[in-house]
Amino acid sequence: MKINIKNYKQIVVLTGAGISAASGIRTYRGENGVWQEFDVGQHGRVDRLKDNPQQIWTLFGALRAQLKSAMPNQAHLALAALEQNLRPDQQFTLITQNVDGLHQRAGSVNVVELHGNIRYTKCANAACDLAPFTDENTYADAVPRCSKCGDVLRPDIVLFGEMIPALPGWQAKRALRECDLFMAIGTSGSVAPASNFVRSAEYAGARTIYINLDPMEPRNPAFKEEYLGKAEELLPAML
Ligand code: APR
Repeated sequence: MKINIKNYKQIVVLTGAGISAASGIRTYRGENGVWQEFDVGQHGRVDRLKDNPQQIWTLFGALRAQLKSAMPNQAHLALAALEQNLRPDQQFTLITQNVDGLHQRAGSVNVVELHGNIRYTKCANAACDLAPFTDENTYADAVPRCSKCGDVLRPDIVLFGEMIPALPGWQAKRALRECDLFMAIGTSGSVAPASNFVRSAEYAGARTIYINLDPMEPRNPAFKEEYLGKAEELLPAML
């Protein structure tokens, strides 16, 4: 089924870990998901920064390691091409829960990173003025310390129990308000607030489409269309 992008003015796409599966990045849930090895909700909780910061680095250092050899796949590229081929009167916002940066590497421009980016490390102390910096270290053996205040360093991503940063939260809401086409791709739809975006899109009167390998469990009735399969195969055909 081909989506006629020409018919829409405000296109919003929400992506999750499944879109990066073909790039060799493990999803959180589902078959071979990280969750089968770790309780991500506990190992990746903000409280671990205080009582066991090594757990945070064990979990997300592994993601950095996967990224060293990862390349954008056909699904990332199809979304980048969609954005590049729009008319000037069409708006496109790509909201991603992924922290892997693969959309930008594929050429997507208007990307809202809801959960941050794993390429950056920052100080866990919110009052410290150390600026987040790009970092490829995985810190598998020892937790790094801040050169300014001595607190632990952490990946610059949203951990369980943390709020979405104000700017991406606002950018996502703004795009959803007038959206007429909403597509969620490669996400289990189980983590708020992104799991609720389809409701906002529905209120705005958008066409709502779910594209994923597995059906959403439980099903969200705000999605009016569902296409099951691999994003890297479906998207190049649909867009
Ligand atoms: N194409 C499309 N979908 C796929 C593919 C693929 N090739 N491979 C797997 N999937 C689907 C799975 O069926 C699963 O439903 O991708 C979905 C990934 O779901 P999650 O692992 O839950 O990822 P996501 O929805 O992004 O998780 C949201 O949870 O742990 C937190 O902060 C983390 O951002 C993450 C958030």
